[in-house]
This record gives sequence, C-alpha cells and structure tokens, in this order.
Amino acid sequence: MQKTKIAPSLLAADFGNLQRDVEMVNNSVADWHHIDVMDGVFVPNISYGMPVIKAIQGHATKPLDVHLMIIDPDRYIGTFAELGATVLTVHYEACTHLHRTVQAIKAAGMKAGVALNPHTNISLLEDTISDLDLVLIMSVNPGFGGQSFIENTYEKIKALKELIQRKNASALIEIDGGVSTENAKKLTDAGADVLVAGSFVFKSEKPLQTILELKSVADG
Ligand code: DX5
Ligand code: ZN
Repeated sequence: MQKTKIAPSLLAADFGNLQRDVEMVNNSVADWHHIDVMDGVFVPNISYGMPVIKAIQGHATKPLDVHLMIIDPDRYIGTFAELGATVLTVHYEACTHLHRTVQAIKAAGMKAGVALNPHTNISLLEDTISDLDLVLIMSVNPGFGGQSFIENTYEKIKALKELIQRKNASALIEIDGGVSTENAKKLTDAGADVLVAGSFVFKSEKPLQTILELKSVADG
C-alpha cells in the first residue's frame, strides 16, 4: 500500500469563503495545503499575495506547500519562512542561480522544491537532485487551474524516478495540473508521491469525499 500525499490547490477555492474551504481541507484526509503564488510576469496570471496567505495560514492545520510561479524568488524566501511555509518550491526556469536559491530556502528552515515546466527536461536536475526535498512536475502549463493534463508527464515521472534512484537521492515527486481519479493511479504507478488537485476537489459537490476517493485510487 502506497502512501500518496494529496495537496488540494486553494487556487480553485471560493475566495469569498476561504476560511470555510481551508477548514474543509483541515477536516479531510488531505496532507498539505497547496498554495499557488503567481506574479503576472513568470505566468500570465496573478493569484494572491502575502495578506491572503497570512489569512490561510491562520486557519490551516496542515503543512503549507507553497508553489512560487514568480521571477527572482530569492527576494521572498524570508517572507515565506515567516508566513509558515513548510515546503517552498521555485521554478527551474525562474532561477539563474538555482543551487544558491535551494540552499537559501533550506537555511531559512523550509524544505526546498524545484518545479519544472512541461518543456523542461528532467536531465537538467542531474546536478541538483541530491539537494532537493521535492521536484514538482507541471502536468499543465502553469498559470491557471482547470487545464487538460499533458500525457507526456508519465514519461517525465519515470525519468525523474530513475534519476533519483541512480543518485541515491530522496526528493519527493509532486504532480500539479489536471489531476483527477482518472489519472491518479497511473501517476503513482509511474512514481508520483504527491498529487496536487485544484478543480477536481473544489468543483466537486462533496469535496471531502472527493479527496478521500483521490487518495484511495492513488494508493489502490
Ligand atoms: C497551475 C497551478 C496548479 C493549479 C492546478 O499553475 O500550479 O496548482 O491550481 O489546478 P487543476 O488541478 O485545476 O489543474
Ligand atoms: Zn501549483
């Protein structure tokens, strides 16, 4: 029996009822709160910033899994540590000095993740994988919820799993975008450890049950 972590993405929550939706995740079998931060530059969309994340943190009882889709993320590492992030993930494509950024995240007391866009090859992590706590594979182009899952993701998961094993590394593999009970099992069979789900959870009539189903399908 695998133990897949489920991280509902609050990007798809009802922002008028944010406390209610954060508490729903608290009361569910989900493992992390996934928080998407977009700057309108690295990605074409702007999501939410520090005051909203502070409000989320005030109600959340599970670890905060923060996914930064912003340029030059080094500027905000200290701020996200203060906001209580457990995992801080930066984009490979947004970091000129990725090794330095990863070390700074760890020095600030957080787990360090690196996200790869759909066009970014796994082999580019050869020299950093041993330093990483998590690799987030984007299974859609970042910026919006509710997009269609990119099928090439399975091959990328397998390539990443092979790299992690070959380097004797311990990074978790997280998949983000278009995740549902349709593909959850195939993703975990390929090697995924953490599944992010936005629309699939928050557009559901019964989100608590949907999270439970996602977890049991993933572990099945
Ligand atoms: C997309 C974000 C995702 C998004 C996933 O840029 O990183 O976390 O919320 O949404 P769904 O699950 O709807 O594809
Ligand atoms: Zn995300």
